[in-house]
Amino acid sequence: MKLSAISTTLAATLVSANPNYGRGSLDEWAPGGPDDFRGPCPMMNTLANHGFLPHDGGNITLENAVYALTTALNFNESVATLMWQQAIIANPEPNATFFTLDNLNRHNVLEHDASISRSDAFFGNNHVLNQTIFDTTTAFWTGDILDVTMLANGKMARQLASKAFNPNYTFTSTTEAFSLGEMGAPILIFGDIPAGTVNKTLVTYFFENERLPVELGWTKQASPINLDQVSATSASLSKAASLLTNSTTSAAARHRDLHAGFMFES
Ligand code: HEM
Repeated sequence: MKLSAISTTLAATLVSANPNYGRGSLDEWAPGGPDDFRGPCPMMNTLANHGFLPHDGGNITLENAVYALTTALNFNESVATLMWQQAIIANPEPNATFFTLDNLNRHNVLEHDASISRSDAFFGNNHVLNQTIFDTTTAFWTGDILDVTMLANGKMARQLASKAFNPNYTFTSTTEAFSLGEMGAPILIFGDIPAGTVNKTLVTYFFENERLPVELGWTKQASPINLDQVSATSASLSKAASLLTNSTTSAAARHRDLHAGFMFES
């Protein structure tokens, strides 16, 4: 505890002396200060807190993003490039060559309603962790090892709450694709990719501290994370994000009662 307080203070000193201190490390960490940009993405904030991205949250160029995503998280270079290319629209300037973490806060550009740990823009701050909201999500994370069903349930619960109570609720098919990618990201970074699972403690630590869970024993994936793994993880989440089940063969389920009446209407 004492040691971690010292290292945090040391990191804070280093950060104020040099906003890009050493281009980051797993041991250095300091939260954003009052003049630093932070945004709705817990991982981009985390990478800035560790200094893999500029600590002030500015100047996220292609080179800076690829450096952080490959070095800290072991994405392969082409996936890292794709992520930056999809995000550059966050900067409203034409032909921008960088974005800032603050740019990511622009509502309905990339930032969207029904985030699992942030409030909807309609209700106020759309980018700082909202513990009450995150707790409503984690109530659906019903095991110590999260699987795609639990992650999908948490996301759908947030969508239902937003749809019910936010008169401006917006969630397009593009948002859904982005949202599935977000739900898969913890599996890719902290989990067992082939199994589609991830330890809940690592994920909650990451969300609540915006810090890589090194002190809990996490290490980055041994092999670079590739596009096939990203796509397969999103596809499993998409399948899990349905309220329908497979058919059942039980006699009771085959018996059609009045509830099935509408199926026979011509
Ligand atoms: C260039 C890289 C990235 C960009 C530009 C980016 C951007 C964003 C943005 C704009 C959001 C907000 C969406 C919302 O309103 O909920 C978001 C959410 C999220 N991002 Fe990222 N992201 C990037 C990489 C990553 C990576 C590598 C991870 C790995 C863990 C990650 C994890 C998440 C998660 C879990 C959320 C959902 C937060 C929530 O729903 O509360 N992101 N990201």
